[in-house]
Amino acid sequence: MTQPLNVLFLSSEVFPFAKTGGLADVASSLPQALKEIGNDVRLAIPRYGFVNERKFRIHEIIRLKDIDIPIGKKNAKLNVKSSFLIGERTKVQIYFIDSSDFFGRAGIYQDPKTKKDYADNDERFIFYSRGIFEILKRLGWAPHIIHCNDWQTGLVPAYLKKIYASDPFFKNIRTVFTIHNVAYQGNFPKEMFAKTGLPADVFTQEGAEFFDKFSFMKSGLVYSDYITTVSQTYAKEISESEEYGCGMDGVLRKRKKFFTGIVNGIDYTIWNPDTDQYIPFKYSVKTLDAKVENKKYLLKRFNKKFDPQIPLIGMVSRLVEQKGMDLVIDAFPEIMKMNVQVILLGTGEKQYHTKLEALAKKYPEKFILELAYDDELSHLIEGASDIFLMPSKFEPCGLNQLYSLKYGTIPVVRRTGGLADTVKEVNPQKGAGTGFFFDEYKAEEMIKALSKALAFFGDQKNWQKIMRNAMAEDFSWTNSARQYAELYTKILDK
Ligand code: ADP
Ligand code: GLC
Repeated sequence: MTQPLNVLFLSSEVFPFAKTGGLADVASSLPQALKEIGNDVRLAIPRYGFVNERKFRIHEIIRLKDIDIPIGKKNAKLNVKSSFLIGERTKVQIYFIDSSDFFGRAGIYQDPKTKKDYADNDERFIFYSRGIFEILKRLGWAPHIIHCNDWQTGLVPAYLKKIYASDPFFKNIRTVFTIHNVAYQGNFPKEMFAKTGLPADVFTQEGAEFFDKFSFMKSGLVYSDYITTVSQTYAKEISESEEYGCGMDGVLRKRKKFFTGIVNGIDYTIWNPDTDQYIPFKYSVKTLDAKVENKKYLLKRFNKKFDPQIPLIGMVSRLVEQKGMDLVIDAFPEIMKMNVQVILLGTGEKQYHTKLEALAKKYPEKFILELAYDDELSHLIEGASDIFLMPSKFEPCGLNQLYSLKYGTIPVVRRTGGLADTVKEVNPQKGAGTGFFFDEYKAEEMIKALSKALAFFGDQKNWQKIMRNAMAEDFSWTNSARQYAELYTKILDK
């Protein structure tokens, strides 16, 4: 048994308040799971302009008004608001770090119109990171652990070690830094370092200097007490290869003893075909036949022909290189020669929007394209598709293949990161396995894996067996939340 702890969980995204990808889902479901096993977990996230205060019952904490946060020579004013993240089994208190100047905007990291990163992202996340310490003191709540996630929170371990730990109030706090994606590092021109107020030794090779830039991610890696990432294979990939590690591999090797992979879980109260509010026909392992009704419904909604013999391939993805978009676009003419229909929901880089739009025009009968962010449709695609395609170039964990397993939507994936750790290769002889793999990052290889899946789909009896295998997998948080709790205890005992 682990002892109950006070844990402050930091993330720039938390579902349902703000989300661009899987980080938001993890930052919502992991704190709830940690709370369920007895910890006092609280969240702190920026209060973005688009968050609906009335809907989420967010209110001000008057005594935490107008706190001064130094940013270089300037002072910025911080207010704190509060609400609860309400889950089916528990609720978690959430603090909103508020500044209309820094966060009162329509986007999280970038302007949704121009798709350009905000020019002051350095100041925005300095403000957030320092703000954490200022509010903790005023709240009189000292966590045992501050759990930081991704580069936006990378300065927190440095602030603790270099500034705040000299105050007895903060002295015993330990930090965990979780890498959800090492490709996003928050590297800024070195001139901005002065704005952090951190001592000069932080901007050195042993500290957060990274190829002459100041790196928020590296700060998190160097100054945290422990580093984790979201699957074991990704932990290996990013510490052994410069390409996967995006240059942070050396730092990770140095901290090898304090670095481990813990695979993500998912929230089955939100992602479950038996209860999903967004799919019209609920189903479970016992009522598998109902799944096809969702496919009929989806195809009708998009005015496409329905034929139960034709497999529907689904994709829900950020449209970026990571997700294998180049492979998909290269392979598309070949895929369209197959007896399939494809639905793709995503938003992201403009080049992919343009290329995909051209393909949608060329193949109007077989290809449904939704260039949007649509939570409801993402559920329906999981519920309606036969196959889920996720040909990622790299994938720290990946949640969509986990959702797919639960929905009996068979994943076809590249063998990398969390995809390699969570999908089991189909073995036709034994009727075992949950999905199909390819190894080399090449369009031909992806097509081979898809063809294998399609051939298998033709044999419905066996296909249903694979569906049952997939749906029986358990990726609930129970196991991984315990691993985090054990880790917290371990670093506190040191
Ligand atoms: P990543 O975090 O790298 O984007 P994950 O597989 O971990 O990948 O998580 C992606 C999450 O974002 C899933 O919950 C997925 O359903 C959601 N998502 C991605 N794109 C969209 C979209 N266009 N509309 C709705 N949800 C999306
Ligand atoms: C990142 C990764 C994704 C992972 C998610 C949650 O966005 O790209 O693979 O599932 O974080 O950890």
